[in-house]
Amino acid sequence: MAFIQIPKGWHLPDHAVTPEHMYMNRRRFMQAMGIAGASTILGAGCAIAEDEFVVEVPPSLPGLYPAARNEKYTVTRELTREKVAARYNNFYEFTTNKGKVHELTDKFEVHPWQIEISGFVEKSGTYDLDDLLKRFPLEERVYRFRCVEAWAMTVPWTGFPMKALIDYVQPTSAAKYVRMVTFHRPEQAPGIKAQSWYPWPYFEGLTMAEATNELTLLATGIYGHAMPKQHGAPIRLVAPWKYGFKSIKSIVKIEFTKQQPPTFWNELAPAEYDFWANVNPDVPHPRWSQATERLIGTMARVPTQRYNGYGEYVAHLYG
Ligand code: MTE
Repeated sequence: MAFIQIPKGWHLPDHAVTPEHMYMNRRRFMQAMGIAGASTILGAGCAIAEDEFVVEVPPSLPGLYPAARNEKYTVTRELTREKVAARYNNFYEFTTNKGKVHELTDKFEVHPWQIEISGFVEKSGTYDLDDLLKRFPLEERVYRFRCVEAWAMTVPWTGFPMKALIDYVQPTSAAKYVRMVTFHRPEQAPGIKAQSWYPWPYFEGLTMAEATNELTLLATGIYGHAMPKQHGAPIRLVAPWKYGFKSIKSIVKIEFTKQQPPTFWNELAPAEYDFWANVNPDVPHPRWSQATERLIGTMARVPTQRYNGYGEYVAHLYG
């Protein structure tokens, strides 16, 4: 993969590139100067004109949202404000500019949506997401979410355990891993063409034990409604003990494999993003510390926890 250019957006974590107080100073400067368009400033964009920003929610089957919250999965941290999370996105298929993803998703069609199930599995085939949503009851779970770039959010996801789908499609005993793939529609997602050096479509993987862990969610909603496009509509993974890049968005394929599948970021920069990507404050990224994280939408920086605080659920998977 020598032709692949290592992505600029990940050379430094966002806070190292522009600390939030500097965004804020720039915001004040722009307000003082009466400069329009300040709402597009990265990061602090979340705090700018929050009232005017409307989170666009794609239509969904009636009666799905809001789903009842499963109180087992709540956290003591304050929820990230919805309008902050909805304007601070990593979705490179659209752009590497976190504050602009939501502005570039108009052409992205998220309904109807099919998922192809293949590989070592009894019930392979193409499934309509609406049919899956009639089969698997949705629940809401509040999880911490930690990006490898050292920012974090706390959001209420709505979805169903990936285990429910896996039990339904019945992988064979040969299946040891799950490989997942994102949509590939250059005409709907401008970042695909604009950044042709990436090995699109985005792909990720988990072991079967990880995929069937009780925490692993296939999320179709957030904040009590269907998933906005910028968060990975209409269905994405959420594996909260892993760095956010494992939580692949807008999934169109799930394949059961014998071999560990390659993963997008590991192919691009193997020394920086490993297959496992379990949150670990003691192992710095080669270019920045992972000891602390910035809670988006606030000035707070807090210590990072091993497995993002989910060790009781997952530590046994890793010996
Ligand atoms: N999935 C796809 N298909 N494309 C991406 O660029 N970015 C990942 C992950 N899933 C990404 C993706 C990264 S790096 C993070 S941190 C999370 O999505 C961000 O999710 P959010 O925008 O909902 O906060």
